[in-house]
Amino acid sequence: MEDALMQPAVLVERRGGTLLLTLNRPDRLNALSLELVQAFEAALTAAADDGSWRVCLLAAAGDKGFCAGADLKERATMSEEQVRQFVPRLQALASQLSSLDRPTIALVQGAALGGGLELALACDLRIAAEEATLGLTEVQLGIIPGAGGTQRLTRLVGVAKAKELIFMARRLTGAEAVAEGVANAVVPRAALLETGLAWAERIALGAPLAIVAAKRAIDEGAALPLAEGLAVERACYAPLVETTDRVEALNAFREKRLPRFEGR
Ligand code: COA
Repeated sequence: MEDALMQPAVLVERRGGTLLLTLNRPDRLNALSLELVQAFEAALTAAADDGSWRVCLLAAAGDKGFCAGADLKERATMSEEQVRQFVPRLQALASQLSSLDRPTIALVQGAALGGGLELALACDLRIAAEEATLGLTEVQLGIIPGAGGTQRLTRLVGVAKAKELIFMARRLTGAEAVAEGVANAVVPRAALLETGLAWAERIALGAPLAIVAAKRAIDEGAALPLAEGLAVERACYAPLVETTDRVEALNAFREKRLPRFEGR
């Protein structure tokens, strides 16, 4: 490991029921080197296998960068063949993140450019710090977003807005990202983690199986014609009818107390 005195490239912590993954290459603005990508792939594989967390926060070490995208210094040393192989790996990494079955929230401070924003776009929600810089700036480097950005940004903000942002390589502040629909909320940098943890706690008030089913229904239905999306919704709803948690919620309502969900 070249960086940060042999620190792991991705830190994995628990805060109660929240899994906190932190990109940890701050001296390179958490740029996506091969080493960071390998560490993130391993952390996501472990996260997918660990059924004990409710919400995953994706954070980044340092104040200047969430993730400055591809490691441009490493990229300059790669052959065309190596680049050809590495880019689909970044796309697969973003897909690995987006396919986690429980909610994910990116906490974006500093620069989230290129692949950095693409990772944030692969999360369900994004909270940005006021001074963050978010942009898919690849055309300025002679390439296009290759880790899902052309597809996920378009699904998020629509065709014309995605074209505007990508063609012009626009760099949005946190507040602009909220105005354009790219981020869900903007907060002062000092409140970023605290806000993410509070959102995670709020989400964790919902019944665990219901949250998973809601994420699946939204994600699987989003690109489908309405009738097919409604069929996905029915399929995601049906197993919840038999759950203990559904009955518990009805009992709690009758007894005027908070439900105690057990995820079954
Ligand atoms: N790959 C590799 N190293 C990177 C990097 C990247 N994508 N982005 C930043 N760094 C390095 C810088 O080279 C610098 O290291 P050095 O001092 O050893 O040269 C260090 O991280 C800090 O970056 P610096 O440019 O000094 O910070 P800044 O606050 O002045 O600027 C950015 C921040 C993000 C605006 C600027 O670094 C930048 O434009 N980076 C490239 C972003 C990019 O185009 N990414 C790819 C998108 S496809």
